[in-house]
Amino acid sequence: MANEIRFDGRVAIVTGAGAGLGRTYALELARRGAKVVVNDYGGARDGSGTGSSSPADAVVKDIKDKGGEAVANYDNVATVEGGEGMVKTAVDAYGTVDILVNNAGILRDKGMLKMEPENWQAVIAVHLKGAYDVTKPAFTVMREKGYGRIVMTSSSSGLYGNFGQSNYGAAKVALVGFMNTLKLEGAKYNIKVNTVAPSAASRLTEDVLPPDLFQQLKPEFVMPLVVYLCSEECPVSGNIYHAMFNSYNRIALMTSSGIAITDGKKVPTVEDVVAKWDKVADMAGAKEYPALNDLTMAMMGAIQANA
Ligand code: NAI
Repeated sequence: MANEIRFDGRVAIVTGAGAGLGRTYALELARRGAKVVVNDYGGARDGSGTGSSSPADAVVKDIKDKGGEAVANYDNVATVEGGEGMVKTAVDAYGTVDILVNNAGILRDKGMLKMEPENWQAVIAVHLKGAYDVTKPAFTVMREKGYGRIVMTSSSSGLYGNFGQSNYGAAKVALVGFMNTLKLEGAKYNIKVNTVAPSAASRLTEDVLPPDLFQQLKPEFVMPLVVYLCSEECPVSGNIYHAMFNSYNRIALMTSSGIAITDGKKVPTVEDVVAKWDKVADMAGAKEYPALNDLTMAMMGAIQANA
């Protein structure tokens, strides 16, 4: 097929690939020629339990039955040793790492008043620290070889807000910050880092989504977007994409053009700011900035123009 996206010779790690979304990514990457490390700790939905090898083993079997190449890994992403273990599995089995999908996830929903430290920490540990634990050793290999594709998994829960998910939302948006820096640090080495915010039926959403919607939102719908972000053909770095059912869109952080208040010699009063509030908040003409430096340059330009 012309323009077919292939992964021959590529080595991918997909964390939390024993079920749900991660499983669909692992199966498709393997079907398109990648050698896949299928990581899954196999714990409960809230991350409790001592783990199980069955979810990862089942996906590896599925891949091999279809003629693909895969190896199982049962490490916990929430430990430094776990992250290093996954990369070691990839390097020992297949010699390198080209692709990392940080996908493993748990939920511990609580309203703020009941958000005890253990629920906060467990969710931050798997989603945020977990992504760091695996990315650090994978990035080392990618930088050395001058190639890499990394996908972070955020959530509209954090990007827009959702009751009872302050721990999860905080961790998921923190991954956008993680991406924003890695896209800069990886650019010179052809390491592209993007983020998916998926919406799909899985163990995590079975009691969240209405049953009829749950039937429809198959995780396979998210898969093509993520697989493209994992490919050599991926044209972007530092972007966030939302995928839900048959719809795909980009999400971006926009900055309003704002307004200079006073001539810059006098510090404005609170009332001076209030008087210009509409202009401060006006998003007409808002822009995206690819990095902090670009925002700073734009602001410096505006300051000089107003001086
Ligand atoms: P899922 O529960 O079906 O799959 C997550 C997998 O991660 C499980 O197999 C689990 O065993 C594994 N896992 C959990 N903790 C782990 C750890 N410490 N180390 C290694 N593996 C671990 O859930 P789903 O929906 O497929 O979630 C995948 C990712 O997508 C998660 O990061 C989730 O937060 C995110 N997401 C999912 C949404 C959805 O609508 N399903 C919405 C937004 C984000």
